[in-house]
Amino acid sequence: MKTASLLLALMLACGAAPLARAEEGQSDLVAAGHDFALKVCAACHVVAADQISPPILKPPAPSFVAIVKHGDVSEASLRKLLSTPHGNLGRSAKMPNPQLADFQIDKVVAYLLSLKSGKDSAK
Ligand code: HEC
Repeated sequence: MKTASLLLALMLACGAAPLARAEEGQSDLVAAGHDFALKVCAACHVVAADQISPPILKPPAPSFVAIVKHGDVSEASLRKLLSTPHGNLGRSAKMPNPQLADFQIDKVVAYLLSLKSGKDSAK
């Protein structure tokens, strides 16, 4: 009992702690993009290390980390890919246009780009 209320207090304290930083909005967007990708993109891609089940698509689409490590991936190229039909991606299993709204593209692109910067040290 005591532990539970202590935990609750801790969680509240963390959640309420003012993160008065400029990146706060950006990291919210990244977290939202991570959740969104797990829901919408994970049937075909490995989108995150904490993905519970493997993609249904066999063979799966390239993982998000593999995609952003290409090196030629930019915010503009991701936005273009996610907002247009991409029939010429060059493989028999093509990615359908996910038909996302702008706010959905914002968060999933922020998430993808965060994977890119997060992996810089592995280069
Ligand atoms: C129905 C399966 C499917 C879903 C759902 C899907 N993708 Fe894909 N995606 C693919 C396939 C297949 C490819 C590889 C296409 C190729 O190699 O030509 C791909 C490729 C990509 C690429 C990289 C293309 C490149 O040129 O390197 C990105 C970025 C991408 N997907 C993002 C997403 C995002 C973000 C979502 C969720 C909003 C998503 N995908 C959902 C099947 C899917």
